Amino acid sequence: MTNRTFTMIKPDAVANGHAGKILDHIISAGFKVKAMKYIHLTSDQAGAFYEVHKERPFYADLVSFMTSGPIYAAILEKDNAVADFRTLIGATDPQKADAGTIRNLYAKSIDANAIHGSDSDENAAIEGSFFFAQTEVF
Ligand code: RTP
Ligand code: MG
Repeated sequence: MTNRTFTMIKPDAVANGHAGKILDHIISAGFKVKAMKYIHLTSDQAGAFYEVHKERPFYADLVSFMTSGPIYAAILEKDNAVADFRTLIGATDPQKADAGTIRNLYAKSIDANAIHGSDSDENAAIEGSFFFAQTEVF
């Protein structure tokens, strides 16, 4: 079934000049861009986006990292989008990410891991609507 996921190309990948290659990797894998924006998150925005991780020890570092520079946020569409995109990006820790995955190719550490991908259809919808109005999705 064709469905959607949500991604962010994170500040490390943007700062390192990898955003274009990562976007090409995503499109070449068959994902269609339905919405995209270039945005520098405030602490309030990053804190709210990662609210589910509020009690985790890495939450403060995560919010600080995600506000360290601009990101690209996007809604993507493909058959089996959520699971296929998680496969495409690889494990959270780039040391454990399979060869050829985006995190294997472009990420340096578990904190600066280049890219986000939604972990369920429900979260994909919540995260997409966090960044985009319906009128911004094509
Ligand atoms: P994401 O949400 O960014 O796609 O990553 P994920 O599902 O693979 O990992 P998740 O558990 O949702 O964690 C969100 C982000 O928090 C940072 N993290 N740091 N130091 C740590 O142990 C740790 N664990 C997670 C990562 O940047 C991760 O992408
Ligand atoms: Mg996650």
